[in-house]
Amino acid sequence: MMSLSRRSILKLGLMSGIGSFFAMKGCVRAGEGQTPSEVEGPFYPVVAQKDQDFDLTKIEGREGVSEGKAVIIVGQIVDLNGKTIEGVTVDLWQANAKGRYRHPHDDNPAPLDPNFQGWAIVQSGQNGGFRFKTVMPGAYPARSDWIRPPHIHFKVSKKGYVELTTQMYFPGEPLNETDALLQRKSRSDQALMIAQPGKKEEGVDVYLHNIILEQAE
Ligand SMILES: [Fe+2]
Repeated sequence: MMSLSRRSILKLGLMSGIGSFFAMKGCVRAGEGQTPSEVEGPFYPVVAQKDQDFDLTKIEGREGVSEGKAVIIVGQIVDLNGKTIEGVTVDLWQANAKGRYRHPHDDNPAPLDPNFQGWAIVQSGQNGGFRFKTVMPGAYPARSDWIRPPHIHFKVSKKGYVELTTQMYFPGEPLNETDALLQRKSRSDQALMIAQPGKKEEGVDVYLHNIILEQAE
């Protein structure tokens, strides 16, 4: 709290009403602008699928569950003033636990997981909240000299706001320190893109990740 600007303190005041998510994540972030954008990457889903619900660890009609470590991601969508935004479309996709996307251009030899949904579209509800259950994405080679750390891609949109394409990272991952995309961001932008650990739910690791949208002109 030592280096907060007056503007940040004002923002903190505005933020104080929105509940525990920001308390858990550390309010300081709210004064630092919108969630940084990042490239969509080459693996935005192109194969239609019926099941796009919030549980990516199961596919409707199949018995099995995804390989890998289950994780729950919880967050809120807010604007630059900390006001929560309901009805935001959160389109998210990721590699499976072995680092493979279900995409025709992914030539990673890692195996596909027939029980991993890989792609979901969820809406923010009351208080801008969203959540989904998935597996920890595997790291994968982007080039021979570059391994991407575990990450989840997001495309976040609602009329009246600037559409945001971004990526979320996991805390404490050594590959974060060498990632060519994450490392070109400032430290404060990195902090807005790296989730924070939350309290486990029934033995499943929870990560907290808020997304801050900019209003359209
Ligand atoms: Fe990716």
